[in-house]
Amino acid sequence: MAQQEDVFKKIVAHAKEYGFVFPSSEIYDGLSAVYDYGQNGVELKNNIKRYWWEAMTLLHENIVGIDSAIFMHPTIWKASGHVDAFNDPLIDNRDSKKRYRADVLIEDHIAKIDEKIDKEVEKARKRFGDSFDEEMFKQTNQRVVDYIKHREAVHTRFSEAMNANDLEGLRNIIIDEEIVDPISGTRNWTDVRQFNLMFSTEMGSTADGSMTVYLRPETAQGIFVNYLNVQKTGRMRIPFGIAQIGKAFRNEIVARQFIFRMREFEQMEMQFFVRPGDEMRWFAYWKEWRLRWHKALGLGDEKYRYHDHEKLAHYANAATDIEFQMPFGFKEVEGIHSRTDFDLSQHEKYSGKKIQYFDPELNASYTPYVIETSIGVDRMFLSVLCSSYEEQALEGGDSRVVLHLPAALAPTKCAVMPLVRKDGLPEKAREIVDELKFDFTTHYDEKDSIGKRYRRQDAVGTPYCITVDHQTLEDNTVTLRERDSMEQIRVNINDLHALIHDKVSLNSLLRKLK
Ligand code: GAP
Repeated sequence: MAQQEDVFKKIVAHAKEYGFVFPSSEIYDGLSAVYDYGQNGVELKNNIKRYWWEAMTLLHENIVGIDSAIFMHPTIWKASGHVDAFNDPLIDNRDSKKRYRADVLIEDHIAKIDEKIDKEVEKARKRFGDSFDEEMFKQTNQRVVDYIKHREAVHTRFSEAMNANDLEGLRNIIIDEEIVDPISGTRNWTDVRQFNLMFSTEMGSTADGSMTVYLRPETAQGIFVNYLNVQKTGRMRIPFGIAQIGKAFRNEIVARQFIFRMREFEQMEMQFFVRPGDEMRWFAYWKEWRLRWHKALGLGDEKYRYHDHEKLAHYANAATDIEFQMPFGFKEVEGIHSRTDFDLSQHEKYSGKKIQYFDPELNASYTPYVIETSIGVDRMFLSVLCSSYEEQALEGGDSRVVLHLPAALAPTKCAVMPLVRKDGLPEKAREIVDELKFDFTTHYDEKDSIGKRYRRQDAVGTPYCITVDHQTLEDNTVTLRERDSMEQIRVNINDLHALIHDKVSLNSLLRKLK
């Protein structure tokens, strides 16, 4: 675990050093849980968004996109339930004056018990070697049996308190389990209170009578309130989907793990409108399809798992998360939710406008049901970054840091390098750049030794390096070096485009989804 934390720290440092992610407002000491994307980060992020957008809208002829405004009529958030119920349970420590999410304090406490269990298991595994039977050990070792019993008891109390919205129950767990503030080390806790996560601001001048508006906490409501517009103007027939990528804002209290939980982040959401009664079939479809989209990137099938929700929101009749193995454990990257007709019905009620679909096949009108797929761009970025990072020992005692980014997502697709800065090699290299740049993000690099230049490109995940040497001037061939294998082949300049395109294009990646 500690080793994984070290790796994570290195990934965060690497992201900054190589222009992927910077803390926001850094010269003013930063702004908590807000980040900026640098020159390489923005390219990687745009490529992730393009992969999602094209997979949704190009590969599904019944899905179209929109781009709705961040500001929306405040009644939308009343109708959606966010004004009344988009809350976190918070608790303060009177000594440190720090504020925590009560549920996170308890979850961390449960994780600590899990760590103790794992430690005992690992100790025993070492002691017993090949003959070790983990299940038997967990059932018979008294210390571990007690830990497991304790964990289950806390977990049950926790689930019950969360399901019943029982704030006092949450506080009682914190007191009974003697959970201390990590800063002050004391148990001097206040009561638990609900805290709304939406940011609000004023629109219009106060003299005119201003209105409180919210920064949207999800992009989905922009889709719901445009359902009629898109259905009518696009003459869409159910089943159909509306996709959107955009910023969302949440006043997260426990903001940590880098870009995993941010206050300003980006979502890629798609609402798929279906006939009532058809929703479970479509829920199964999207659950399978979205995982296929993730796995096509080749980050490792074993790094994904579903987490089906036991506790459902009042409007949902099925929900699952796609979790990814981050260095700090399996974490939610995407949610797939069957939201019934809740949102459209609520907007019909609050707006007073009829939001119905006339189904010509059934010759009947109804409020469509909705399957939602909702993925955070930043979390996707983090999963790609973490699983791509490797510190690699090389032959001869050398080492390199390499990002094994999926080629279609890599910020730079190829770097062209003259072996030396003379004899016409830079000019020849520039000619190649000028040809390739129309189709691929291509860099020209002539500084430092060729070895150093390769390392620089490895560190930002560039799939191909093209080296121009004296032989190039004689026979029009260059060396093409592949990032992961470091293998170098001699190829004709005329063949470069096809060779690179085949490996790095989004087209090739999308074809895997057929
Ligand atoms: N419309 C449904 C919805 O917003 P959600 O589970 O609250 O559902 C969907 O959010 C996705 O948005 C999450 O799976 C996660 O990837 C991303 N997300 C949510 N809160 C986030 C935050 N504070 N920072 C970064 N990403 C976040």
